[in-house]
Amino acid sequence: MDNEKLIKDAIEYVSKLLENNAGGHDAAHSLRVYNNALAIAENEPGCNLTVVSLAAILHDADDHKLFDHENNENTREFLKENGVSDELTEEICRAINSVSFSKNRGKKPETIESMIVQDADRLDAMGAIGIARTFAYGGEHGRSIVESVQHFHDKLLLLKDEMNTETAKKLAESRHSFLLEYLSHYDEETASK
Ligand code: NI
Repeated sequence: MDNEKLIKDAIEYVSKLLENNAGGHDAAHSLRVYNNALAIAENEPGCNLTVVSLAAILHDADDHKLFDHENNENTREFLKENGVSDELTEEICRAINSVSFSKNRGKKPETIESMIVQDADRLDAMGAIGIARTFAYGGEHGRSIVESVQHFHDKLLLLKDEMNTETAKKLAESRHSFLLEYLSHYDEETASK
């Protein structure tokens, strides 16, 4: 199996699959998650980098917000077509299925690969990019600005304390501070006088 080619093909596959998504789950998000995952994996020498890479790139390929899929259908089809073994496919799907915030509340991922990909995805929901994605997603789903800002309190501000790896905890700090700074400006500008 040629890992480099497989990763390149996975990026191409996801770019086509998510190309029309305007709600923050676009291909650029998948690429950022992949890059975050690589940065975290650098400090986790025991992890399987192939599983981390493919799970990060493909983590939204069957996302429940985008597809009515029960069993990672797109991911499995892509991996099968590219000659990935059943065993590796299961590991990749397991890592992907641990990513969802809403489906995994309070549950810690069981493998280091799952931890890395979950952290990588959550980092992209924080900081400047997290703010942009929250409003893009809110607009796409008919949410008001006030409702989108409520999402900061319901989810985004909790993420810092939910990181699994030490690297992600560090990377989350400045993103978290920026969220707080943004909210303090927002509150000031929108306060009734
Ligand atoms: Ni994601």
